Amino acid sequence: MYEKEISLAVIKRLPRYYRYLGELLENDVVRISSKELSEKMQVTASQIRQDLNNFGGFGQQGYGYNVEYLFTEIGKILGLDRKYHVIIIGAGNLGQALANYTDFERRGFLIKGIFDVNPRLEGISIRGNEIRMMDTLEQFVKTNSVHIAALTIPKAKAPQVAADLVSWGVKAIWNFAPTDLNLPKNITVENVHLAESLMRLSYNLKAREEQESENNKDE
Ligand code: NAI
Repeated sequence: MYEKEISLAVIKRLPRYYRYLGELLENDVVRISSKELSEKMQVTASQIRQDLNNFGGFGQQGYGYNVEYLFTEIGKILGLDRKYHVIIIGAGNLGQALANYTDFERRGFLIKGIFDVNPRLEGISIRGNEIRMMDTLEQFVKTNSVHIAALTIPKAKAPQVAADLVSWGVKAIWNFAPTDLNLPKNITVENVHLAESLMRLSYNLKAREEQESENNKDE
C-alpha cells in the first residue's frame, strides 16, 4: 500500500496516463522517458515525474519508465486489476448506449444486468443481457455480487432508486441523472454530467471569441 495519500488531482490524471501507456504497449514500446511522455501528453515532464513519484518513482535515471510496469502499477492503483460487476438502471437511450459499449469490459467492468420499469423493454437483449424489470432488482442485488450501479433514469426517480440500491448493499453509484444523490459517506458516487462539460466548452469558446474580437479591435 502507498503510505502517502495521493491527491485527488493526481488520481484524476491517472486514467489519462493509463490510456497513453496502454497505447504505447499496443505499439510494443518497452520504455519511455518523462520527456517523451510529456511531449505525447502535452504535460510538462516535471509534472509527470512529480505525479509518478507519488508511487515510489517507477522511473530510473537514464532509463526512463518501463511502460508495461508503469501501466500495470497504475492499473493496480486505479483498481483495474480486478473485475467489477456493473448493473445499469434505466434501459433508455443512455442506458442502452452504455450497455452496448464494449470497451468497459476490456477494462474489467462487466455488465451483469440491465433494469427498467417499462414492460415493453422486458426481455430485449443487449449484448447478451436481457432487460429485466425493476421488481426483480432487489432479489438480483441480494443474490449476485454487484459492485457498481449505473443510474440512467429520470432525475426525479434517481434519489429513491439510489437509496434502495444502497440499502440492499451496493457501495458505488455511477450517476448520470442530473441530480445530487446525498448518500451516506461510505458510498462512492461518481457523477457524470455531459451537460456540465458542454457548459465548460461553451464558456471557453465564448472567452476565446471575446479575446479574438478584442485583438481585432487593437489591430
Ligand atoms: P430515456 O427516457 O431514453 O431513458 C430513461 C429510461 O429510464 C426509460 O427506459 C424509462 O422507462 C426508465 N425508467 C424510468 N423510471 C425508472 C425507474 N424508476 N426505474 C428504472 N427505470 C426507469 O432517457 P435517457 O436519454 O436515456 O436519459 C436517462 C437519464 O440520463 C436522464 O436522467 C437524463 O437526464 C440523463 N442523461 C445524462 C447525461 C449525462 O451526461 N449525465 C446525458 C444524457 C442523459
